[in-house]
Amino acid sequence: MATAPYEARRGELTTYFDRTAVEAWARLTSDAPVSRVRATVRAGRDAMRANLLSWLPDDLTGARLLDAGCGTGALAVEAARRGAEVVAVDVSPTLVGLARERLPASIGAGRIAFHVGDMLDPGLGRFDHVVAMDSLIHYRAADIVRALSILAERTDGSVLFTVAPRTALLTVMHAAGKLFPRGDRSPAIVPVTEGGLRRRILREPGLSGFSVMRSRRIDSGFYLSNAIELARVVPPPSAVPAGGLR
Ligand SMILES: C[S@@+](CC[C@H](N)C(=O)[O-])C[C@H]1O[C@@H](n2cnc3c(N)ncnc32)[C@H](O)[C@@H]1O
Repeated sequence: MATAPYEARRGELTTYFDRTAVEAWARLTSDAPVSRVRATVRAGRDAMRANLLSWLPDDLTGARLLDAGCGTGALAVEAARRGAEVVAVDVSPTLVGLARERLPASIGAGRIAFHVGDMLDPGLGRFDHVVAMDSLIHYRAADIVRALSILAERTDGSVLFTVAPRTALLTVMHAAGKLFPRGDRSPAIVPVTEGGLRRRILREPGLSGFSVMRSRRIDSGFYLSNAIELARVVPPPSAVPAGGLR
């Protein structure tokens, strides 16, 4: 079955995260008790968030950070606590509303501006860092790389993102339709191989100023996700003085 291209997929995800799964997602991202299956997902997601945050500078004072597909906002809060000026965007108005409600009384020195909309909206501005945790996993590899290229153009530091790794076992489970218990199923996750993704990144002209610096797989029961860091190695054109670099 062909996977929907970016805009169509984004529409499906809006319906899913704004309506179908909003209660389950609110619960998963809270401290409320959950099933054993979901507890493994929660633990894996906590580990993934900690991993992505560990790839950012400890001191984010004044750094502009895009939380791309922020959901209920946990990563945005942690980044703000380290001083970041966070723009947190999600296509689901309900999840953004929940993120606003859950905002702790104090988030330290940083700030968070929430937006409802597409993470690729150029109006969101330029960033030092972009983090897309589990928000690109439902898109095709070609769309992931195109989205990364659009985000990278506006990023001076690093773009951190996750993908669903394609392993032999995962492929078999997908084929058997047994990856998630029926009630937990979301719009299909599109597994990608890291090698294939790296080759696409190398071929993408918009990512020529970036290199893959590291990757890390988090495997926790029903949660399996691969974090990748793309870091800028060539200054953006806007940073090069008219006479060129000396
Ligand atoms: C699996 S959730 C992860 C949420 C959050 N990053 C976290 O880890 O808790 C994926 C989120 O990405 C959002 N999303 C998907 N595509 C998006 C897009 N193109 N622009 C903005 N948000 C998007 C969904 O609405 C959903 O809230």
